[in-house]
Amino acid sequence: MTRAAGPDSAYLLGHSPTETDRLVLQARLYDPITEQALRTAGLRPGMRVLDVGCGAGDVTFLAARIVGPEGTVLGVDAAPRALEVARARAASRSPGPEGRPRSPSGG
Ligand SMILES: C[S@@+](CC[C@H](N)C(=O)[O-])C[C@H]1O[C@@H](n2cnc3c(N)ncnc32)[C@H](O)[C@@H]1O
Repeated sequence: MTRAAGPDSAYLLGHSPTETDRLVLQARLYDPITEQALRTAGLRPGMRVLDVGCGAGDVTFLAARIVGPEGTVLGVDAAPRALEVARARAASRSPGPEGRPRSPSGG
C-alpha cells in the first residue's frame, strides 16, 4: 500500500513515534468525518485510489474499506519512517470483507 518520496523534512512535525501516535489518535477521532468526506468526494467500491502523503496509513485504510476487495488503494509518502509504520499496520490488519490493504510504498 505505500511508497516513499523524499526527505523526512517534507513534513514539518516530523515522523517521531510520538508524532505518529498523535496522527493515529487524531485519525480515530476524525475517522467518521473523514470517511464521510471520502464518500462525498465520490469514492465508490471498485475504484483505484492514490493516497499521496499517507503517513501512518489511516486515510489509506479508510479508503480501502470504501473501495472494497474489487478496488485498490496505494499509499505513498516522502518519509520512509512513516511508511514503515503504515506497512506494519497494513500487515497486521485482518483481511475482513473489505480485503487486506497492500503494503504502502515510498516514492
Ligand atoms: C499530516 S501528515 C498526514 C498523514 C495522513 N494522510 C493522515 O491523515 O494521517 C502529512 C504526510 O505527507 C507527507 N508528505 C508531505 N509532502 C509530501 C510529498 N511531496 N510527497 C509525498 N509525501 C509527502 C509527509 O511525509 C507526511 O507523512
